[in-house]
Amino acid sequence: MSNRATVWSVGSYVPRRKVTNKMLSQHLETSDEWIRARTGIRERRYAAADETAATLSTYAARAALHAAGVGAEKLDWVLVCTDTPEMWSPPTACFVQDALSASHASAIDLTGGCAGFLQTLQLAEGMAAAGARVLVVGTELLSRFVDPADRHTAVLFGDASAAFLLGSSAERQGLSLGRSLSQSDGSQADILTNPYGGVRHEITAEVAAAGAHHTLHMDGPKVFKHAVHRMSQAGEALLAESGLTSADLDWIVPHQANQRIIDAVTHQLGLDPSRVFSHVDRFANTGSASVALAVADMLHQQLIRPRQALLLVAFGAGFSWAARMLTADALAPVLFLDGDTV
Ligand code: ACO
Repeated sequence: MSNRATVWSVGSYVPRRKVTNKMLSQHLETSDEWIRARTGIRERRYAAADETAATLSTYAARAALHAAGVGAEKLDWVLVCTDTPEMWSPPTACFVQDALSASHASAIDLTGGCAGFLQTLQLAEGMAAAGARVLVVGTELLSRFVDPADRHTAVLFGDASAAFLLGSSAERQGLSLGRSLSQSDGSQADILTNPYGGVRHEITAEVAAAGAHHTLHMDGPKVFKHAVHRMSQAGEALLAESGLTSADLDWIVPHQANQRIIDAVTHQLGLDPSRVFSHVDRFANTGSASVALAVADMLHQQLIRPRQALLLVAFGAGFSWAARMLTADALAPVLFLDGDTV
């Protein structure tokens, strides 16, 4: 059998600070009841003031390497997928490469919104099948990029990082990467955007004085509609391409944006809700980290069994959407670091 790209191990990190709905309702015109009913979210994690995209990524990356027992010097690539980078330049991945002492690795960032981790995985797959050892890290600190006074966005997001260590199946077994698809529709870009700071909308003195120049802008109901449509479509298309039906799946792992989006996709795909993983109540929407964090939590909770088949599906800014089959040829070791308990 030819060499396949395999997830050798998984690592993740969620910061210590829990922010409950009740805490948000102390300065926002919202309530625990509204947030739970409309999103399913109960709490989210916010990074501490001294934590950054690079520190969160490094914790998750170290966790994945430690779980696998692989030294950082063995890495060929460090890919960090994030919409909330350390700085404009250099890439967050270079800070992570340095912190890990990954002395032989090439490091680069990718930006793909909430579908970004699965898109990056698609790029990493070819590298790993060819024998490279690739660390794919999804990281988001959206707490720094939402307007805390905007109830439409402030309640939805949390901070986290999660990493997959990929290598060839010839070297070791793990979660085997099956078929995947990804697609974008840039004509919808304005519905969900963080528009300032680039060349199109520079942060002039006037823009800075007006505030909101670094925060997310979103038409929530439109995002909701597109997310349900595209994730359902991507899931159906990938199943059809794979010659499978939903009955062949043991788990569906959707992007953790909103429980109502997850429920609607579950309904559209005719899935058994007990096979659809959700922890959105505890961690909210962690953007580029979301699906990888979900897999980390499932492995940590020992929900995934040997030989089980998983369908991962995500949607986010761009718009972009992606789906991926994973098969647990062997259980990938995991280290789920919770700042609350370590
Ligand atoms: N607390 C209380 N009331 C609120 C809040 C809040 N936090 N936010 C909005 N409202 C109000 C609105 O002002 C509105 O009031 P009005 O009727 O007096 O005008 C009312 O609630 C309904 O607002 P809608 O926006 O229509 O509410 P909806 O049911 O669509 O829920 C939500 C809003 C939760 C944002 C939903 O649209 C959603 O989840 N969309 C997807 C957004 C998302 O997931 N974005 C993440 C990035 S992309 C991705 O990850 C898929």
